[in-house]
Amino acid sequence: VPGTVYLDHAATSPMRAVALAAYAGAAAVAGNASAGHAAGRAARRVVEDARESVAASLGCGPTEVVLTAGGTEADNLGVVGLHRVRRAEDRARRRVLVSAVEHPAVSAAADALATTDRAVVERIPVDRRGAVDVAALAAALAADPAAVSLVACMWANNEVGTVQPVADVVAAAHAHGVPVHVDAVQAVPGLAVDLAALGADTVAVSGHKVGGPVRSGALVVRSGTSLAPLLHGGGQERGLRPGTLDPAASAAFAAALAETAAQRPGEAPRLARLRDRLLAGVVERVPEAVVTVPDGDRLPGIAHLTFPGCDGESLQFLLDSRGIAASAASACAAGVLRPSAVLLAMGVPADRARTSVRFSLGHTSTDDDVDAVLAAVAEVADGARRVAAAMGPPPGPPSGRAA
Ligand SMILES: Cc1ncc(COP(=O)(O)O)c(C=O)c1O
Repeated sequence: VPGTVYLDHAATSPMRAVALAAYAGAAAVAGNASAGHAAGRAARRVVEDARESVAASLGCGPTEVVLTAGGTEADNLGVVGLHRVRRAEDRARRRVLVSAVEHPAVSAAADALATTDRAVVERIPVDRRGAVDVAALAAALAADPAAVSLVACMWANNEVGTVQPVADVVAAAHAHGVPVHVDAVQAVPGLAVDLAALGADTVAVSGHKVGGPVRSGALVVRSGTSLAPLLHGGGQERGLRPGTLDPAASAAFAAALAETAAQRPGEAPRLARLRDRLLAGVVERVPEAVVTVPDGDRLPGIAHLTFPGCDGESLQFLLDSRGIAASAASACAAGVLRPSAVLLAMGVPADRARTSVRFSLGHTSTDDDVDAVLAAVAEVADGARRVAAAMGPPPGPPSGRAA
């Protein structure tokens, strides 16, 4: 939106010009990529060029790239697909180990397996920074490795930006012959990714977090890894993701990812500097504000804070009224503001978790955006504090009275 200070790149990053151009160019190519005539071959060439480009950007082989309609689908295919194959091989493999801070695309997919496939989901705790406890994972694996179907751990957290020790997670699981699914959706914009070096069995990537189209993405399936498909149809993508291929979305995703990877060496330090200026400036102007992950390995583009005495939704609303798009980073279920499960897993008390705001930076972000936040934040926090005082305390745990 013109005139908006857009600081919600972790929710979706505006389309890059190269992606728009690639989309328009490829959308003009007629032909079903599975058809045996010249038009079909032309469409197929667009898709295969995109696949090679995606593979080069991620450090994997083109035959390992399964194009999907987004990150959620890739996560579901990885988690459900690995579980079903492993369980079919050995009925004893019912345990699904997931970090306590996964995106719902992974955590809800695992929970669904508990219903549909009698899986037993175990959540591996995280520390105060939100980093998964690798020793706890190793202990859970060692307790009964033969019963574990898979481990899932995200590369970087979408709410607070913590980068996970994914190489250690892969090593711990592979020591027991257990496959690992990694959600790299938020990692790809900000971190150098070399999937061959990581060695995870399945890795999910999303197009719209890197400035490509929504509902584009990929699951990278390490060669030799078997997966059960979620969809059944015409056999496209080696039967793992049937459905007519989308040359335009594939080309645009590939172009956005290639530009992201090419610019990353300059962009990561640039965004980290903007993030640090934003965090320091906010805390200077609102001294009670607390930076959620102030140090250690974290994404360059995510700045998450809590503002004691304020409600996250009010902060988001008041920022929005000043033209600043940020996220309250909380889910509103049935009209009740639920504190973030990620923050609760990190040991943040529920009442403070409700005071969260996430600013997320990306390829369009500038010092002017940070200046706009710093010019507004003291007044915004004052306003949110007044709203909270007028509204009274947030709803606590259910009282004895029946509702
Ligand atoms: C960590 C993470 N995983 C998965 C997803 C889902 O990706 P998509 O929006 O492409 O379905 C998101 C996006 O919100 C995310 O942040």
